Amino acid sequence: MIPVITIDGPTASGKGTVASRVAAALGFDYLDSGALYRLSAYKALKENADLGNEEVLGELAGALAPRFESGRIFLDDEDVTDKIRAEEVGVAASKVAALPKVRAALLDVQKRARREPGLVADGRDMGSVIFPDAPLKVFLTASAQARAQRRFNQLKEKGIVANIDTLTRDLEERDRRDMQRPVCPLAPAKDAKILDSSELTIEATVAQVLQWYRE
Ligand code: CDP
Repeated sequence: MIPVITIDGPTASGKGTVASRVAAALGFDYLDSGALYRLSAYKALKENADLGNEEVLGELAGALAPRFESGRIFLDDEDVTDKIRAEEVGVAASKVAALPKVRAALLDVQKRARREPGLVADGRDMGSVIFPDAPLKVFLTASAQARAQRRFNQLKEKGIVANIDTLTRDLEERDRRDMQRPVCPLAPAKDAKILDSSELTIEATVAQVLQWYRE
């Protein structure tokens, strides 16, 4: 069976960075499932679609044909790598991700990402829904303060000075929304290992995941 490591967790927990480094260390492919929701949201915003219209959004998500090429993401030949990271797109992504038809439309493309020699997949439901038979499932978390600090540092690198209290409040609000949504609420898979990275460096977090995988 083709091995999969799933890394799920709340926003800004460092899933993406950790997952891509674990994938590189093992020579596995990396699936950024959040990018698929962000792409759906980006396309919907571009086409002025009603973000609450499940029928239309489900069709739109099913018809997406993104290309992933040397770390860049193309949609209809447009390089959208940075555009889909915009805050506006993230907020829209969390709305479209709550629509069951959108989630259903993205099932196959996610499952097909499981190829030799293996896959590291990050998101919210990688261990619980998409790859329930994954041999290693990690739920990566960190305190709201630690996550807000990381986001603050990321924004600073881009020359944006944010307010740490506002960032913390926003994160806590988003956590509540993600955990309370009726469709696919954010929660660890039953057999996931919980990894709290509040006090850990990225290197130490990656090392812990690799150690679990090799055990
Ligand atoms: O950076 P952040 O973790 O907030 O975002 P992301 O992983 O890029 O995902 C964007 C949005 O898609 C999130 O707010 C989730 O609501 C949603 N999502 C999901 O529902 N299921 C996934 N497997 C991945 C993302």
